[in-house]
Amino acid sequence: MLQPQQGKILTVFSPKGGVGTTTIASNLALALRIKKHKVLLIDANNQFGTVTLFFSVRPRNSIIDLISRIDELDAEILKEVITIHEASGLEILAAPPRPEMADQVNGEGFGKLLTYLRRYYNYIIVDTPAYLDETTLTAIEKADINVLLSSLEIPSLRNVNAFSLLYQALGYNPRKIVFVLNHYDRKAGISLERISESLNMEIFMALPLDDKLVLRDAVKRGVPVMVDNQSHLFSKNIYVLSTKIQEKITQMEEVVV
Ligand SMILES: Nc1ncnc2c1ncn2[C@@H]1O[C@H](COP(=O)(O)OP(=O)(O)OP(=O)(O)O)[C@@H](O)[C@H]1O
Ligand SMILES: [Mg+2]
Repeated sequence: MLQPQQGKILTVFSPKGGVGTTTIASNLALALRIKKHKVLLIDANNQFGTVTLFFSVRPRNSIIDLISRIDELDAEILKEVITIHEASGLEILAAPPRPEMADQVNGEGFGKLLTYLRRYYNYIIVDTPAYLDETTLTAIEKADINVLLSSLEIPSLRNVNAFSLLYQALGYNPRKIVFVLNHYDRKAGISLERISESLNMEIFMALPLDDKLVLRDAVKRGVPVMVDNQSHLFSKNIYVLSTKIQEKITQMEEVVV
């Protein structure tokens, strides 16, 4: 078992839906898994989680089965609840099976769960919905890194700006944010510099628009692109993103020491 507190929490969040949060969380988790880390992907979309669909796995149990026993968790219970994606060895904590069960996952329970799970994993990746419910706020608060996503669309960029102001107002560490643009298309005619300037945020990485619909097809098949198409440009970019995030975590730790 790892030492207490060793695992890193990476939350992936976009304040606008449909921007690619689940795609990026899933493939980022896989990139870290390919590097032989012990990785857990948590579906924190408590009402309408889709992670098990992306991996075409049948969930064993769900996050509710951990939250409801939060003060008596042990390795045996985890084993009963966590779903393994056999092709990669990635571990998945599924969202509740029905939307009306979402309110059984509260912020306090979720926070305790993250603290508990850190002992077992090198990385915990949290896929979030596009709104700030208790669970998402807890994930953001407890994360070592928050991957903040936007597309090039104005509503998405505007919401990122609103989120960023709230994040600062809440007093969270701005260094924990890595701002990533998805669906990046050079032909769109907006320069990265302009986006960065207007939001006053450094762009950590821009992930390419997949206009050949390979990513959409991956969802249809339930096989993430990082599993069977590692040479695809998107997979390569996600792999680089995972390395850059790991480097950033190391740098941040050096500063603290
Ligand atoms: N860079 C990209 N280029 C093209 N298509 C993409 C890209 N990233 C994601 N997609 C596609 O966009 C669709 C939505 O992606 P995804 O479900 O990951 O978004 P989301 O932000 O999690 O949505 P939701 O708000 O519903 O949770 C999927 O079909 C996915 O394959
Ligand atoms: Mg999603």
